[in-house]
Amino acid sequence: MAKPRQIKFGAIIHGVGGNIAGWRHPLAQTDASVSLSFYQEQAQKAETGKFDLVFIADGLYINEKSIPHFLNRFEPLTILSALAAVTSKIGLVGTVSTSYSEPFTIARQFASLDHISGGRAGWNVVTSPLEGSALNFSKTLEQHPDHAKRYRIATEYLEVAKGLWDSWEDDAFVRDKESGVFFDPKKLHTLNHIGEFFSVQGPLNIGRSKQGHPVVFQAGSSDAGKNLAAYTADAIFTGHPTLGDAKQFYQDVKKRAVALGRNPEELVILPGIDPIIGSTQEEAERKYQELAELVSVEQALAFLGRFFDHHDFSQYVLDAPFPELGDIGKNSFRSTTDRIKRVAKEKNLTLRQVALQEATPRPHFLGTPEKVADKIQEWFEEQGADGFIVASSIPRGLNEFVDHVVPILQARGLFRTEYEADTLRGNLGLPLPVNRYTKQSETIPQ
Ligand SMILES: Cc1cc2nc3c(=O)[nH]c(=O)nc-3n(C[C@H](O)[C@H](O)[C@H](O)COP(=O)(O)O)c2cc1C
Repeated sequence: MAKPRQIKFGAIIHGVGGNIAGWRHPLAQTDASVSLSFYQEQAQKAETGKFDLVFIADGLYINEKSIPHFLNRFEPLTILSALAAVTSKIGLVGTVSTSYSEPFTIARQFASLDHISGGRAGWNVVTSPLEGSALNFSKTLEQHPDHAKRYRIATEYLEVAKGLWDSWEDDAFVRDKESGVFFDPKKLHTLNHIGEFFSVQGPLNIGRSKQGHPVVFQAGSSDAGKNLAAYTADAIFTGHPTLGDAKQFYQDVKKRAVALGRNPEELVILPGIDPIIGSTQEEAERKYQELAELVSVEQALAFLGRFFDHHDFSQYVLDAPFPELGDIGKNSFRSTTDRIKRVAKEKNLTLRQVALQEATPRPHFLGTPEKVADKIQEWFEEQGADGFIVASSIPRGLNEFVDHVVPILQARGLFRTEYEADTLRGNLGLPLPVNRYTKQSETIPQ
């Protein structure tokens, strides 16, 4: 009998949080973004809750308007390596941009994390929406690649990385002291990639891990982002304001995967959620209000501006309808800016309303543990999601989720009570990618 489909969970660990003023919350640990003990404790809490993975987001450009967490935070692969040492089952997913890095370095770093963690590494592929990133990488603003080009780079980048991860077949390292044979030369493969953006000879100087390749996540929800995910990712991190939007996105992405000859179950769709839990509905509402009241309109305008490549929204009238922006935002967080413009128009919102709503959105998943569990069940069963990335803006909101919501979902048979595997791929129910050269030699008669 086929195993019933179960929910997947990831936990974003993001120090003082994704809310621009969250660090001022009475319960916030103000140095959490650079506190090793905070990250360790949160990763271990997520593992106690049998989460599939912890997730570290990232960016490559800040200015004085950036949210406090972005100003002073850990580099993802470094902190994930530290977390590997204090966890044993949970996946470790880090964000790295394909627009401002080299495939050899990044393939190597993720392969190392995969070995260090015993097959628990994941890479959240992003394309760097902020043009200021160029200035940190020896380029001019004009050299920041546009949206379409960024995705073309990402596509080739992943081909190179996956090629490098197959440099060594699984049994390539013989390590026979007696005969003096360290590796089997027939099982070593040189990539020799020459493409539009990269030329990489290989081989990679580290072999395959227990899960074959690190798990590839993609965060980007435009058509180009969906195509990249359907073509080559194992999972997609996304975000949707309503179940209707989530369902549409889910079907769309799965259809694209099928059109490319893939099994749609092997592309896991994980929207981000920011649950606020209270022992009563009123308590949950009060927690939300407490957080929302910390945010000033000026801060909200700065927060909104970042999605539009730090566009200055203070130049517009606050209580007039949301301004006509033309193409502003199209080259940045496009799927997000398209949504903001569309919703502002549909609902006839003012700039103030849009800014406050974006800076502290009223979470869809707000209420008692039962109510939050009901919503999660609804989104999962209606095929709006295969699982969720929990990104709590309430300090240690993850703890409340693990303690109060997880047991309800477990009792309903919707979430695991024990890990199925030791690897991230295994827990996500994804197949092991067979080394391309091993596969070739199995299919070609010798
Ligand atoms: C849910 C979600 C999460 C993202 N997380 C990150 C991130 O951590 N770091 C980053 O540089 N970009 C992040 N991005 C930006 C994307 O990688 C991409 O550059 C941008 O959204 C434009 O692509 P899109 O129009 O396809 O969404 C994220 C985008 C989405 C939709």
